[in-house]
Amino acid sequence: MPIDWFPGHMVTARKEAALAMRKTDVVIEVLDARVPRSAINPIFEQLRRENGRAALKVLNKSDLADPERTRRWLAWFNAQPGVKAVAVSAKAPKEAKRIPEHAQALAPNRNSPLKPLRMMILGIPNVGKSTLMNTLLARTVTKVGDEPAVTKSHHRHELGRGKWLTDTPGMLWPAIDQDAAFKLAATHSIGRNAYDNAEVAAALGNYLLDEYRPLLEQRFGPIPDGTRGHDLLTVVAQRRGFVIKGGVPDLERAARIFLGEFRDGTLGRITLETPDDGT
Ligand code: G4P
Repeated sequence: MPIDWFPGHMVTARKEAALAMRKTDVVIEVLDARVPRSAINPIFEQLRRENGRAALKVLNKSDLADPERTRRWLAWFNAQPGVKAVAVSAKAPKEAKRIPEHAQALAPNRNSPLKPLRMMILGIPNVGKSTLMNTLLARTVTKVGDEPAVTKSHHRHELGRGKWLTDTPGMLWPAIDQDAAFKLAATHSIGRNAYDNAEVAAALGNYLLDEYRPLLEQRFGPIPDGTRGHDLLTVVAQRRGFVIKGGVPDLERAARIFLGEFRDGTLGRITLETPDDGT
């Protein structure tokens, strides 16, 4: 008999989200603009669709993403019924502060204290949900503090007159497929302890060699033809002088540096998927 692995806290989270979803007009889903498909939690997306709720897809960290690909992703999401997508950088509060306005446009009849606009914000770990929440709450007109909403783990905030925002914990889901897992490890939504740096860096290297080779050469110098991800780590180690005893390239250190430079944008503005792949 196959084991249907689904940890207890996720069962609870799903139940709580289902409950909160019923009292929500617009689901604000924060996605990492570098992986807009892989960052979608399929469990919550299914719940949203089953409940027929409108969605505001917030492609955050757009300052780190490839602008051309972000444009394509926005068009792709915006073509879906009941969905609006915007690209923001939570570090640039001006754009982030317009999120309630975008959500309002999806539920124009919910606009008074009697019929408040009820928003629910979702996002997997590390997509910048807390940073966005801080920006949104900083503009709170009536400060009500965190009042518990429908559930223990959800908190409801009032974002001014007739606008409520329910915050939910960042959650991943079980059995993430390998391609999404590598991307979520690269963008750091999956925690360090769950993977091997060199493996993730090699997978990232493969993708970047195919899609963003000029950025790699700009950073690390000419790369020999036929180089694949694992060899790229050797190139990085050699060019940076990362060696261990006996002059052996320190691939672990090269992997850490390479991942760090991707994550903080040093390698350039990069997006690891397009609307056309994998569909
Ligand atoms: P979470 O609640 O979704 O888990 O994410 P959180 O807000 O904690 O953000 C995760 C990391 O991403 C933080 O970096 C945060 O500063 C960064 N971040 C959030 N939004 C953006 C954005 O739009 N652009 C960029 N470039 N970074 C963003 P950190 O390394 O934990 O700390 P920090 O030193 O960068 O502040």
